[in-house]
Amino acid sequence: MLAMSYRGPYRIRTVNKPEPEIEHPNDAIIRVTRAAICGSDLHLYHGLVPDTRVGHTFGHEFTGIVEEVGSSVQNLKPGDHVLVPFNIFCGTCFFCQKELFGNCHDTNSYASAVGSIYGYSHTAGGYDGGQAEYVRVPFADVGPVKIPENMAEEDALLCTDAFPTGYQAAEMGEIKQGDTVVVFGAGPVGIFAAKSAWLFGAGRVIVIDHVQYRLDFVKQYAQCETINFLDIDDPVVHLKKITDYIGPDVCIDAVGAEASGSALQRLTGVKLKLQAGSATALMWAINSVRKGGVVSIVGVYGPTFNLVPIGNAVNKGLTLRMNQTSVKRNLPRLFEHIQAGRVDPKAIITHRIPLEEVAEGYHMFASKLDNCIKAVCIPPKGWH
Ligand SMILES: NC(=O)c1ccc[n+]([C@@H]2O[C@H](COP(=O)([O-])OP(=O)(O)OC[C@H]3O[C@@H](n4cnc5c(N)ncnc54)[C@H](O)[C@@H]3O)[C@@H](O)[C@H]2O)c1
Ligand SMILES: [Zn+2]
Ligand SMILES: [Zn+2]
Repeated sequence: MLAMSYRGPYRIRTVNKPEPEIEHPNDAIIRVTRAAICGSDLHLYHGLVPDTRVGHTFGHEFTGIVEEVGSSVQNLKPGDHVLVPFNIFCGTCFFCQKELFGNCHDTNSYASAVGSIYGYSHTAGGYDGGQAEYVRVPFADVGPVKIPENMAEEDALLCTDAFPTGYQAAEMGEIKQGDTVVVFGAGPVGIFAAKSAWLFGAGRVIVIDHVQYRLDFVKQYAQCETINFLDIDDPVVHLKKITDYIGPDVCIDAVGAEASGSALQRLTGVKLKLQAGSATALMWAINSVRKGGVVSIVGVYGPTFNLVPIGNAVNKGLTLRMNQTSVKRNLPRLFEHIQAGRVDPKAIITHRIPLEEVAEGYHMFASKLDNCIKAVCIPPKGWH
């Protein structure tokens, strides 16, 4: 089958590899019809995630048709049209019982801090992902969700990660009625965080980035204010100024470890690798949020950071909330918002790319070319 294959940093190919097979009675094989590229894939693409092995197939946002099921699978049958949450989870462990599906304890024998994710290096379990014609889905009775009859496939696709992550970012912000919410990052996750902030009762929503076309998009899509941090001196001072010198109530980090905006962070984190990436957005969030405010982090970080102002967080009495998204937990709410017409997830898709040209897709999404916001790969049999 055709599949995306990692060859090393900045090197992606579409290759032929063997089709996956049922390995456990509760596996399913899904024929992929849509597979999106996520900002998290860029950390892999840039070689920043440890133990990303040559030959690994990425892709943790996908929809498809069930091709085959293992002997114990009861909830799915061949022909079902499903979305597959990016977390691989058992559904029964201590953490899954608390609906912390992103923190499942049973599926990743490589690590104790991170759960399992499709196509996300061997630190996240080593499972091949969905940027391929077929993918093996473990715990098939637990993860996949049938796409509701009246839902567009590409709306369902964005319910595998980007929308639930933006939504959970807003939820973890513990937004109170009328709160001022600042979202760092106008990528897909930041866009959905801004949109979701209103659903939780925000009174003012501001999105910050330095990519103007993304700011223009989110301004219209989420009806929010925007700031290009290249147009201002110091984002922290600027945010104080526009909030009566108090600071926003909630700051959301939808950027993660590859943040721009600080030469020092880029030098120590990206060039010299003295810390695991650059923590600029997180630093801005902690320093600008008001005392007693909430910082909600969904941006992905590596293990070790030095330049995070944790002392400021302590002295300001902040609440820091963060996690991998527990995708399946909020799906009923997200479906409701989509069906009521409050959110149109597929509207953020700017590019549909044949799987054969997946390398182009990565390049364009990573380099912010051609006004790219969200790129989706489509396997040869997925065009319908
Ligand atoms: N926690 C989770 O479960 C989860 C799920 C999905 C994605 N993520 C993470 O969320 C982050 C965003 O994902 P995405 O798909 O939107 O990625 P993306 O790369 O498309 O978007 C990131 C945006 O941040 C902007 N940016 C860079 N430095 C900035 C700064 N200092 N301040 C403000 N904006 C800045 C970039 O210009 C870009 O537009 C990534 O780190 C991704 O790994 C986490
Ligand atoms: Zn993702
Ligand atoms: Zn579990």
